[in-house]
Amino acid sequence: MQTSASHSVPAQPPPGAASDWTIPQRWSQYTSAEHAVWDQLYQRQVRQLPGRVAPVFLEGLERLGMAQPGIPDFEQLSARLMRATGWSVVAVPGLVPDAVFFEHLSQRRFVAGSFIRRPEQLDYLQEPDVFHDVFGHVPLLAHPVFADYMQAYGQGGLRALKFDAIHKLSRLYWYTVEFGLIRDGDALRIYGAGIVSSHGETRYALDDPAPLRIGFNLRRVLRTRYRIDSFQQNYFVIDSFDDLLRQTLDTDFAPLYAQLATAPDIEPNVLLPGEHRFAHAALPPV
Ligand code: PHE
Ligand code: FE
Repeated sequence: MQTSASHSVPAQPPPGAASDWTIPQRWSQYTSAEHAVWDQLYQRQVRQLPGRVAPVFLEGLERLGMAQPGIPDFEQLSARLMRATGWSVVAVPGLVPDAVFFEHLSQRRFVAGSFIRRPEQLDYLQEPDVFHDVFGHVPLLAHPVFADYMQAYGQGGLRALKFDAIHKLSRLYWYTVEFGLIRDGDALRIYGAGIVSSHGETRYALDDPAPLRIGFNLRRVLRTRYRIDSFQQNYFVIDSFDDLLRQTLDTDFAPLYAQLATAPDIEPNVLLPGEHRFAHAALPPV
């Protein structure tokens, strides 16, 4: 979930980590109890995802061989991902400094936590573990357009550091990569990793009448604050990954950062005049 602002991250990599903050995953050292936690989380999600998640997510799971039981071995996963889109997955000890995170993304490396939550934390944990990072984020990296978006985001992040605009740019990550919704004809689907890896939010994001679901608009998103301690109060809906890439890749963010520096932030639970709110889906219970 790697998002700035909330946590303070040490400036230097911890002992045992490389200068780019990566560590060995040590796949052979996971216990059978740890693999069982993955399997339990995995089963629970694949049962409720069909019909709720963007189909390309399920295609990614399949293509990357993630249906096999147990915590994925990053080497094997990276080999498959490399063949699909040129991305790889590397392990890091926890949250890393923004510049390190962006640098990896810009080189098509996705940084993932290698630890897994404890059995009593199935529904919630504060720090991203391997289930959130790998199950949540990696399947879409097998999709060529999304893969390009993530790399462009890393490059945009390195640029935003120079404009002191990370707090604005991180909202784009939050409302797309972590909590994005996408249209599928008349229906809405989830694709953000924060939703896809959460049993409760997978249902809430589509079915609950409370949160706002608003069409994606770049300036609007950059201005909208977010909460990290509860289900989201609003979601932004993209038309397609092509459209998301178009709206971000070809836009020079530098003038936007300058303009938005004086524009007031928008609270997460506010619908602006003229904005359309998508209806909730209320799918039948699983
Ligand atoms: N085009 C953006 C910039 O000028 C970078 C970016 C691309 C950010 C894609 C996010 C996604 O900074
Ligand atoms: Fe994440």
